[in-house]
Amino acid sequence: MEKLVINGGNSLFGSIDISGAKNAAVAILPAAIMAGSGKCVIDNIPDIADINCLERIVEGLGCLVERNGNSITIDSTSISSLNACTEDVRRMRASYYLIGALLGRFKEARVDLPGGCPIGVRPIDQHIKGFEALGAEVKIEHGAVHVKAEKLKGANIFFDVVSVGATINVMLAAALAEGVTVLENPAREPHIVDVANFLNSMGANIKGAGTDTIRVTGVEELTGCNYSVIPDQIEAGTFMIATAACGGEVKINNVIPKHLESISAKLIEMGVDIVEEDDYVLVKSEKNLKGVNIKTAPYPGFPTDVQQPMSALLSISKGRSIINESVWESRLKHVDELKKMGANIKVEGRTAIIDGVNKLTGAIVKATDLRAGAAMVIAGLISEGATEIYSIEHIDRGYPHIENKFKALGADIHRENE
Ligand code: UD1
Repeated sequence: MEKLVINGGNSLFGSIDISGAKNAAVAILPAAIMAGSGKCVIDNIPDIADINCLERIVEGLGCLVERNGNSITIDSTSISSLNACTEDVRRMRASYYLIGALLGRFKEARVDLPGGCPIGVRPIDQHIKGFEALGAEVKIEHGAVHVKAEKLKGANIFFDVVSVGATINVMLAAALAEGVTVLENPAREPHIVDVANFLNSMGANIKGAGTDTIRVTGVEELTGCNYSVIPDQIEAGTFMIATAACGGEVKINNVIPKHLESISAKLIEMGVDIVEEDDYVLVKSEKNLKGVNIKTAPYPGFPTDVQQPMSALLSISKGRSIINESVWESRLKHVDELKKMGANIKVEGRTAIIDGVNKLTGAIVKATDLRAGAAMVIAGLISEGATEIYSIEHIDRGYPHIENKFKALGADIHRENE
């Protein structure tokens, strides 16, 4: 069992490079298996456990996968199975993109229901509604989703809730449907646009990604392409928040500042100094920040994935802060861990009322999910004394080498095996 050990109290100085976006990469890999000819060469792939998991899954379907540093080459011309029913598939969320990808290309797929972070009920009714509208028959049997269609035909689909997963999944299937599919009320996250750009590089015809209407004109075949994944908005946000919390000055490279606007705006409101340039942000903080209220929302609102890291910062900010988690029903489980470190937080349903304390103190805690893990790392970095974080496999699912990146900025953090 591995744990992270942190001796808190150091300020952060220097510069770091943000990796490719997890939530884009975990959709782009499944999208790559839609190429009927040629290879997809995808750069800026983050070195995280969820990508390793997806690699194994697509290899299991018969794809040839080659990893070279941050680059992955996928040759999917030799796919021999339309069944993705393995422990890896059940472990991660993004495996559900195999449904849309296989349905689009082969008009059939059997994929085990996905896992992922325990942050609330995670239904896939909007995905199913979209596949059915395209003409597929969808059955859930023995814990797997079975989709099948004679042919897929473009349709108008209005999503009842704004869903990242459903938007991408239906976009995948529609890319190879006959005619035009119009997606209304889609998610607008940067990774939606990235996946659409990737599919267009493969020969798809998708317009409007990033707006309230996406128009997909089906094509007959997709082919291999060269592509580079966008920078990770959430990893960048996490390092911005950590710098704000620890104090110091950090240049955060390889970012798209536009994607960080909602995070930057909140940090500026708290008293952090942020300079935005073309592809980096410079974050300066003298600590003693003031608390703020946050309501998570789909993009361009404040990202739910940054809410937990932000709660660690708010726990030592002056006055009262209120977090309203509007996307997930139970994404405040990490609060009990923060309380072990001295935070003063009361949870009422989806709301956390945080009264800032002067300091946190190191403790033995666990990462209850991926972004909760990032919150515990930040809490450890600002605490007096030593913190040990367990269940860090959650963190490794989405943050590449988190301890090395923080160590390079002057933090006292290392990984230990027990
Ligand atoms: C993705 C991200 C996750 C992020 C979330 C919201 C990946 C791999 N994960 O998750 O990190 O927190 O977006 O930004 O990209 N919903 C339904 N029916 C559906 C689908 C979703 O009711 O069919 C609801 C969910 O319960 C949730 C909300 O819609 O309350 C948003 O979910 P969604 O955007 O689909 O999240 P994921 O794609 O699972």
